Order: sequence, then structure tokens, then C-alpha cells
Amino acid sequence: MAILVTGGAGFIGSHTCVELLSTGYEVIVVDNLSNSSEEVLSRIERITGKNTRFYKGDVRDKELLRTVFSENTVEAVIHFAGFKAVGESVQLPLMYYNNNLTSTLILLEVMQEFDVKRLVFSSSATVYGIHNPVPLTEDMPLSASNPYGRSKLFIEEILRDLYISDESWSIALLRYFNPIGAHSSGLIGESPKGVPNNLMPYISQVAVGKLEKLNVFGNDYATADGTGSRDYIHIVDLALGHLKAIKWVMAHRGCDAFNLGTGKGTTVLQLRDAFVNSTGVEIPYSYASRRPGDADEVYACADKARDQLGWEAKYDIEAMCLDTWRWQKNNPDGF
Ligand code: NAD
Ligand code: WQD
Repeated sequence: MAILVTGGAGFIGSHTCVELLSTGYEVIVVDNLSNSSEEVLSRIERITGKNTRFYKGDVRDKELLRTVFSENTVEAVIHFAGFKAVGESVQLPLMYYNNNLTSTLILLEVMQEFDVKRLVFSSSATVYGIHNPVPLTEDMPLSASNPYGRSKLFIEEILRDLYISDESWSIALLRYFNPIGAHSSGLIGESPKGVPNNLMPYISQVAVGKLEKLNVFGNDYATADGTGSRDYIHIVDLALGHLKAIKWVMAHRGCDAFNLGTGKGTTVLQLRDAFVNSTGVEIPYSYASRRPGDADEVYACADKARDQLGWEAKYDIEAMCLDTWRWQKNNPDGF
């Protein structure tokens, strides 16, 4: 069975391709490499011993997508392609709306044309905004405070409208919490361009000596130690959630949201300490001011994914740190 994976060369996409191939799915990737490298595809092949069919190009290119759907029997699509940097989205909103919304609209039009109506979409915990109480459940009110978050919110609405118009669609909206870690082979992992915005890649670049120290954004949050708390989830657990979601879209009709998180919060200092304790590498840090828009504490209620998808996160924070470190030290400059 062939699955089309848009953005399959990216962080989450590459790990999902590995799990799909290892389970016996055929995998077709469309990626324009705007935030990734072609090297990822050979690494996926080294890990799995299997090939992906790669189309280098933009999901907004309708003719390219028609070619992909004509040349392959696509059963379902996992749509990762998009931009994801919150701060950049505030600076460049049109670029974000164009890429994230247009790529989704073009993809949906071509899927409809070829009568492929099973979709797994990369949404984000960011759609819960910052005012809901934790743990976050899928039925809570949604909001967003930046163009990136709004692009996810708009796409969720578009997908709900699409299902209302045509109930033969089957759509899983996966709301990811904070994916970190890397494949245990150390061959693929997160490879941000420039200085990382997110905590774990920042820590691992301090560990490898590329950055001097960690800046801890705020120490007066309402958490155990005053630093922000998030629901970190191992990237392989997240990838496996997509396999469960594929099974769900094959077996159900509907448009439904699922949290992919562990249900546990870890503060910045706890994550930093876990990294130091598991790897033995010192991470110097100092406190800096709060980053605008950050919530005190974000973690999932992951019961719905457990009950309806049959998925639960298995890896702990120590495994997330060790796997991140193996990837980072073997690939100090990423791909
Ligand atoms: P990533 O940047 O590593 O991967 C995205 C991939 O999509 C890249 O390989 C990029 O080259 C490609 N791409 C972007 N626009 C494209 C286009 N128009 N056509 C073809 N390819 C295109 O990001 P990721 O962390 O793997 O995230 C994947 C998805 O999950 C994104 O939609 C992101 O918004 C969402 N998400 C990520 C996180 C996170 O923390 N990483 C959390 C929640 C949601
Ligand atoms: C985690 C914690 C920071 C960096 C972001 C997006 C979200 C989703 C996942 C896509 C916070 C603190 C961070 C640093 C720090 N992505 N921090 N020093 O903000 O929870 O989520 O990525 O959908 O939409 O907003 O993740 O890793 O940036 O921050 O102290 O150098 O680490 O303040 O408390 P966040 P993050």
C-alpha cells in the first residue's frame, strides 16, 4: 500500500518514513528541500534497506502533484510540508500563509480529483492557545496568537468544512506536542538551519560546542522550578502515532483531532538536568527574560489517542536525551 508523504525529508517526516517502510508500506515523498536535505533520503534507505520514491518539488505545484498521483496508486496522504518557525511567521506572515495554506488547498484539490480521501494532517498543540487549563483535551476551545499557529487553525477548519461537504473523506488532525529525540541509529535527527529556536536543539548544540550556553527564558512561571514546562515526546513515538492514524483513516470516515503527547510536563531546567545526567555533558545556562507568548505549562491529555488510535508514547526523557545526543555528536553540523 502506497502512502504519499509531503515534507517527508523533514524532521518528523523522515522518522515517519522509516517506520512506514519498516512496517511494509510503500512510501512516496514530495519535498522541495526548503528546510531539509536530499541526504536524508539516503539515510532512510540505510536504516530500512528500502527505497522511497522521491519527487523533488513543491506541494503548491499542481501539475507535479497530478504526476505523482498518476504514476502511483496512493491510498492515503500524510501532509507534513509547511513552515514551522513561530517567530519567523510573525515577520513573514504572507510567506507562511502562502506556503502552509496554499500547499494544503492544492493537495486537497488533487486528492479530490484522484478520489484519494484519506489524510493525516500535521497540526500542533499551538492551536490550544495559551489560556486553556492543562491537561489539554481535544474538545477545548481553539485559538492562536501568531501566523504559524493561525495557519494550523485555518487548515483544521478547512478540513472540517471539507468533511461536512463530503462525508466520504477520512481525516486525522494530529496535534503534536514537543517532538525531540532522534532515531536510535543516530543517522537521522533534527537539523535546524541557523541558531535553533527550540529548546532541545539548542541544548544539543551547546553540548557539541556550537553554542556557548543555554538561555533559560523566564524563571518566574507557575511551575515546580519557575521555568516553562512542556510535553516532550520522542520523535519515534510521534512517528508511530502516524502509523496508527493511517490505520484509523483506512478504517473510519470523519474528521477528528488527536493529541500526540505523553501527558507529562517537563520544565526547562528538568530537561537540561536530564540531558546532563544521561549524557555526562555539562550544559551551562543563565536566566534570560521570558519569550513573548510562552505559556507556563503545556501538556496533553493523551487518552483519546490511546482509546481510539490504540497509541501511547513509550520513550522517557532519558531516551529522548540520549538519542538526541547520539545524533548531534555524530552529525555536529546536521545533514
Ligand atoms: P521540517 O521543516 O523539518 O519538515 C517540513 C518539510 O517540508 C521540510 O523537509 C521542507 O523542506 C518541506 N516543505 C516545506 N514547504 C514545502 C512545500 N511547499 N512543498 C514541499 N515541501 C515543503 O518540520 P517538522 O518539524 O518535520 O514538521 C513537520 C510538520 O509538523 C509541519 O507542518 C509542522 O508545522 C508540524 N509540527 C511540527 C512541530 C515541531 O515541533 N517540529 C510541532 C507541531 C507541528
Ligand atoms: C520550550 C520551552 C521556552 C528555547 C514550539 C512552537 C510550537 C510547536 C513546538 C510547531 C519554553 C524554553 C526555549 C531556549 C528556553 N511547534 N526555551 N530557551 O515554544 O513549547 O513550542 O515548538 O507547531 O508551536 O511554539 O517549544 O522548544 O521553543 O520551548 O528557555 O533557547 O523552552 O521558553 O518554555 P514551544 P520550544
